[in-house]
Amino acid sequence: MTKISFGGQTHELTPGQTVLDGLLAAGEEIPHACRAGACGACLLRAESGAVPEPAQVGLSVALKARGCFLACQCRPTEPMIVRPADEGLLVAGRLASVEALSSSVAKVVVELEAPLEGVAGQYVSVRRGPLARSYSIAAMRGSTIELHVRRIDGGALSPFLCDPASTGAAVDVTGPFGSCFYVPDDLSRVLVLAGTGTGLAPLWGILHDAIEHGHMGQIWLFHGAVEPDGLYLTAELAALARATPNLRFVPCVLRGGRGEIEEGSIDDVVLRHVPKPARARVFLCGAPDMVAKMKKRIYLAGASLWDISGDAFVPSSAG
Ligand SMILES: Cc1cc2nc3c(=O)[nH]c(=O)nc-3n(C[C@H](O)[C@H](O)[C@H](O)COP(=O)(O)OP(=O)(O)OC[C@H]3O[C@@H](n4cnc5c(N)ncnc54)[C@H](O)[C@@H]3O)c2cc1C
Ligand code: FES
Repeated sequence: MTKISFGGQTHELTPGQTVLDGLLAAGEEIPHACRAGACGACLLRAESGAVPEPAQVGLSVALKARGCFLACQCRPTEPMIVRPADEGLLVAGRLASVEALSSSVAKVVVELEAPLEGVAGQYVSVRRGPLARSYSIAAMRGSTIELHVRRIDGGALSPFLCDPASTGAAVDVTGPFGSCFYVPDDLSRVLVLAGTGTGLAPLWGILHDAIEHGHMGQIWLFHGAVEPDGLYLTAELAALARATPNLRFVPCVLRGGRGEIEEGSIDDVVLRHVPKPARARVFLCGAPDMVAKMKKRIYLAGASLWDISGDAFVPSSAG
C-alpha cells in the first residue's frame, strides 16, 4: 500500500490505484474530467516523493519543474505528499461575452486578471468551483482568451458557458497545456489543419498565427461535421481564403454536402486533396476517434509522426 498525504490527511492507495482514484475514494474533492491524461483537469503538485514518468507526459517543462503531475495517470510506488497545483497557476477571470456562432456553438470570451503564458491553439482547464473542463484557445489577446464551446445538453459546464445569461460570471483558468500551436520555424512548409466540430477552435488560432507570421507555404484547412449545421464560421473562413492566396478552406460533412461543402469522412477528404503529406506539418483536433483515424492515415500516407500534433477532445468519464 502506498501512502498519499493531501491536505494534512494521509490515505492509502491500493496496488495500481491512481492518486486521483485514491483521493476521490477517500472523499477528497479533486477536479477531474477525462481520466485519460488528455485534459489537465486533475493537475496536482508533488511536495515530496518521486513522480512516475507517465504522470507528466505532455506537461510543459515549467510545470514538470514545479513537480506538477496528472493525478489520473499517477500510480506511485513510494509515499508522496501532494497538494493542489493551483497556487500561482490558477488565474481568476470572468465571462466577458457569450455569442452564438451556430445553434449549438458559442464564442465565449474570458477576461483574465493576468495574461497566460501560452499561445492560441493550446488548451486551458476552465474551473467553476470543483468542476473543470478543457477548452482550446481560439484567440489570445493580452489577458483575454476566446473559446468555442459546444453545448452538450445535460452537460455539467458547457450549457452554462454557452448561456448568454452567464456573461459576467466568475471562472478560474489553469494552463495552457498542449503542443498544438503554430511555430514560425519554416514559413515555406505546407500546413494541414483538420478538425471536427469545435476542433476548429485551436485550428482557428493556429491559422491566424500562421497568417500573422506571413506563412508562405500552402495552408489547407479542413473543417468536418456530421451535417452542415454542425459547421460554423464557414462564411468567415471562406472570405479569409478568398483574401489569402495560399489558404484553401474545405468544409466537409458526412451527410448533406452542397455547394462548397464537400461530402465524405474528413480523413478521406483530407487525403483526396493532400494525397502526399510527406513534408507537411499537420494539426488534428476534435473527436478522439476521428483524430486517431486521421493521424494513422496521414502517417501511412507519408507524414512524419514528429510533424503531426493535435488534441483529442476526450469527454469526461463518469465518476
Ligand atoms: C484537450 C481538450 C480540449 C477540448 N477543447 C474543447 C473546445 O475547444 N470546445 C468544446 O466545446 N469542447 C472542448 N473539449 C471538450 C470539453 O472539455 C467538455 O468535455 C465538453 O464541453 C462537455 O463538458 P460538459 O461539462 O458540458 O459535459 P459533461 O458533464 O462532461 O458530459 C455530460 C455527458 O456527455 C458526455 N459527453 C461529453 N461530451 C461529449 C461528446 N463530445 N460526445 C459524446 N458524449 C459527450 C460525457 O461523457 C457525459 O456522459 C475539449 C476536451 C479536451 C480533452
Ligand atoms: S488529465 Fe486527468 S482527468 Fe483529464
